[in-house]
Amino acid sequence: MKINGKEFRTIWFENNIVKIIDQTKLPHQFITKDLKTVDDTIEAIKTMQVRGAPLIGATAAYGLVLSIIEKNDQSFLKKASEDLIKSRPTAINLKWAVDRMMKKLSGVNTNEILKLAINEAEAICDEDVDFCKKIGLNGLKIIEEIYNAKRDTVNILTHCNAGWLATIDWGTATSPIYHAHQKGIKVHVWVDETRPRNQGANLTSYELNEEGISNTIIADNTGGILMQRGEVDMCITGTDRTLSTGDVANKIGTYLKALAAYDNKVPFYVALPSSTIDWNLKKFKDIPIEERNSEELSHIEGLDKNNKITKVLIYPKKSKALNLAFDITPAKYVTGLITEKGICEASEEGLKKLFR
Ligand code: MRU
Repeated sequence: MKINGKEFRTIWFENNIVKIIDQTKLPHQFITKDLKTVDDTIEAIKTMQVRGAPLIGATAAYGLVLSIIEKNDQSFLKKASEDLIKSRPTAINLKWAVDRMMKKLSGVNTNEILKLAINEAEAICDEDVDFCKKIGLNGLKIIEEIYNAKRDTVNILTHCNAGWLATIDWGTATSPIYHAHQKGIKVHVWVDETRPRNQGANLTSYELNEEGISNTIIADNTGGILMQRGEVDMCITGTDRTLSTGDVANKIGTYLKALAAYDNKVPFYVALPSSTIDWNLKKFKDIPIEERNSEELSHIEGLDKNNKITKVLIYPKKSKALNLAFDITPAKYVTGLITEKGICEASEEGLKKLFR
């Protein structure tokens, strides 16, 4: 997608260096960053310079490429794969990408290994772009249906950033929106600010602005009243891990939005590539929920009046804060899952019909 009119992907590989857009600097600064070692990739994932389930998977894949460039040694590679999987616990795409890479690379002791690793990391990225595009075309049908019934702007609420910045291109939740906009359907997006890190305000609104799509940032608690007033036609979010039961882990606050949508009969869709499906876990209580530093809650960063980025404390100095990064929306509140293979019911049966 575009930044200042120029097409970008979120990650690319050039001269044995992994290039990323440093998302901690957005929306005020657009800075690309070089990752040269596997530790650089782990740091970028932990500090959320790259974030979003598919993108951290792709970054981990390139982390393994860098580990081979550093030292072509199977035990070094194995250690790198274990450290990468631990760097963020909730998104299953991370483990999925590392497992896929290791299937190709384990036991390969020839110089061929680097070529194999680069090809597989590239394939992971290209496949993600293809799947996200297909998610968009599948989700477009839902937006078209609403538009045809309403004959007026379709208002879509989204939470966090499941946009192109969370993937390699297109995004998951935003892809149907981009496709609708390109088709000339009038869409407007209610963007949940998404405290504490404000991925909605800082990233989703930013990327929608760059594509010229009408959007309004709202405080996380505003969605409920907008739904009661009939000002939300549908919700679409992304997910970090969807169980085969259809239960969905996503950014903290998604569950509360799904409850409000259910109460107001607003369709609540979740968009995902198949790399986000966890076919193994059966109980949502077993999904590891990341707990991040409470400083993400107690401090806030922004531009001061001299255009300098400043961080300030907003809580009482003595207060404790709990910063859980994800929550779980049970399948019964999810109207449907939008995948690269089509739209299905959020259930074991629904998913199995699409993915045998
Ligand atoms: O903590 P983040 O910013 O990595 O969380 C991202 C989300 O919750 C997204 O909705 C999710 O990863 C889907 S990505 C297309």
